[in-house]
Amino acid sequence: MTAHITSLTSARVSFILMVTFLAVGRVRMYPNGAPEESCSDMIPLHHADEDNSNTPLLQPQTTTPYYTVLVSTTDVEPNGHVTVTISADQSHDYEGFFLQARRANDTSGTRYGTFTADSSNNVTTRCSSQGITHSNNVERYNTSVVWMAPSTKVYNIQFKATVVNNYSIFFTNIHSQVLNPSTGSSAVVVPSLGLSLFVLLLRLINHVH
Ligand SMILES: *[C@@H]1O[C@H](CO)[C@@H](O)[C@H](O)[C@H]1NC(C)=O
Ligand SMILES: *[C@@H]1O[C@H](CO)[C@@H](O)[C@H](O)[C@H]1NC(C)=O
Ligand SMILES: *[C@@H]1O[C@H](CO)[C@@H](O)[C@H](O)[C@H]1NC(C)=O
Ligand SMILES: *[C@@H]1O[C@H](CO)[C@@H](O)[C@H](O)[C@H]1NC(C)=O
Repeated sequence: MTAHITSLTSARVSFILMVTFLAVGRVRMYPNGAPEESCSDMIPLHHADEDNSNTPLLQPQTTTPYYTVLVSTTDVEPNGHVTVTISADQSHDYEGFFLQARRANDTSGTRYGTFTADSSNNVTTRCSSQGITHSNNVERYNTSVVWMAPSTKVYNIQFKATVVNNYSIFFTNIHSQVLNPSTGSSAVVVPSLGLSLFVLLLRLINHVH
């Protein structure tokens, strides 16, 4: 009888604890990455009241972002790889991000290239691998991912990121440098070939005289 009461009481206690936890606990809406619905506008669907999706959406910060998007190279050729790093300043880590490659100044929302997710880096792909996001909300200061350019020549690609400091503080439209397209070796070879021809021509002229 005593045992029965005790187990009933403990069941009741755990029920109360569970309700309290649910009520007080923060509901992180997207701890495992940006949702597919954000593929186009890259705006986090964070509501004024985290637990109530009928409340207005929170707006991005309008101040200078704490975060930068760095690229390993600004020359990109078809199928070329670029390492993209989202870095935080010393005092503001981030718990979420969403990164895509877009054409510079393009508002069409077209995405370019594909990302590869390295699960040890706590990242996962979205939008048919044309976007990449956090796979858990472990706080971080930098995350590097690899992007592969499309197989066809593309112009003026720029990485665009949304970075979430915490549920209420996030930045959108953080851009990397613009990548210059090249068609592979020809972009480098043409000027140097031109220079060699010029030098050869000079030599010929000197030789003639
Ligand atoms: C994008 O627009 C800005 C401002 O209008 C301009 O300065 C910049 O050159 C443009 N970039 C490209 C790659 O078109
Ligand atoms: C990835 O997340 C795990 C927790 O799930 C954490 O222990 C680990 O340090 C994280 N790795 C990186 C590279 O942030
Ligand atoms: C990334 O952040 C860690 C600390 O969080 C730091 O030790 C490391 O140097 C950083 N790497 C880069 C490339 O900034
Ligand atoms: C986000 O960070 C700011 C500044 O540190 C803090 O005032 C705010 O309470 C935090 N919001 C959440 C939801 O953690």
